[in-house]
Amino acid sequence: MPPEDAGPADESLGQLGAPPHRIPALENRHWSYRAIVWSFRALLLVPFILMGPEIISAVSGRPRGFANLGSSVADVLGTSIFVIFIMMLAVTPVQTMTGWRWHVVLRRDYGVGMFVVAATDLTIAAITTGDTFPGGFFSRVGGHAFLFAGTLSTLLALPLAVTANRRARRWLGRYWKWLHRLTYVLWVSILIHLLLLFGLRALFLDAALVSLPLAVLRLPALRRWWESSRRAKTHFVARWIAAVALVSVFVAGYAPFARELAKKGVPAFTQRPSHD
Ligand code: HEM
Repeated sequence: MPPEDAGPADESLGQLGAPPHRIPALENRHWSYRAIVWSFRALLLVPFILMGPEIISAVSGRPRGFANLGSSVADVLGTSIFVIFIMMLAVTPVQTMTGWRWHVVLRRDYGVGMFVVAATDLTIAAITTGDTFPGGFFSRVGGHAFLFAGTLSTLLALPLAVTANRRARRWLGRYWKWLHRLTYVLWVSILIHLLLLFGLRALFLDAALVSLPLAVLRLPALRRWWESSRRAKTHFVARWIAAVALVSVFVAGYAPFARELAKKGVPAFTQRPSHD
């Protein structure tokens, strides 16, 4: 994740546009902040809770266990990965708009969590989707352009997740920021995965919609203006109007993915996925 997308827990190690003061370590902050951060972290368990029963059934060799897993994996885990990725990308814009810093640690957690879910998705897809994509391992992970884009996205997340820590940052020095610009390549490859799956409709349009405010709030000029007027307490009305517009677009794009996760996740959890 780029500097603004995957900073280590200690923000003093480098945040673009960060104020010069040190932030107290998370463990020294008020318990309520820690509780909120931990509840956001706990969301990373949702994909595993939803898929848990099917994974256990498949591993223990129950009838239909394997088929159920193959039917749910792309829907439940694919949607979860996207939702987590978007939450990771939202950390910096939230910081720009509000000045909050207590949540910045979630950027690394969501980046690593996203990779873990994506690696699980790829592994299960490589094992269980032979009925849908016959022809062997390579056909299951790259036999169609949309599969290739999904696999590529997962592989791109690997170096980002592995280096999202202070030791890697120190070791890589100035190359760390360069490496973490891969987040933008990953963002594009995920959008291509969805474009190839859905065309210019449905979840691709929602993904483009939710991406829009996250991209706009990364424009250097806008970001500088927002941060300086926030600190100077000026342009109050303009910032509020912009915030309401951007958050509305974000929610309009995000809600269909949350709905999709509930729609596909509950049948997966109860082991009654649709096999269409
Ligand atoms: C960063 C990694 C990935 C992201 C963010 C992602 C995201 C998504 C999303 C949001 C969907 C739509 C789910 C739905 O319709 O409910 C989807 C569908 C799908 N993905 Fe991925 N995916 C990723 C990796 C992969 C991988 C590694 C594979 C397989 C090799 C894969 C194969 C599929 C397939 C086959 C579908 C269509 C499922 C269906 O409509 O039945 N994806 N993905």
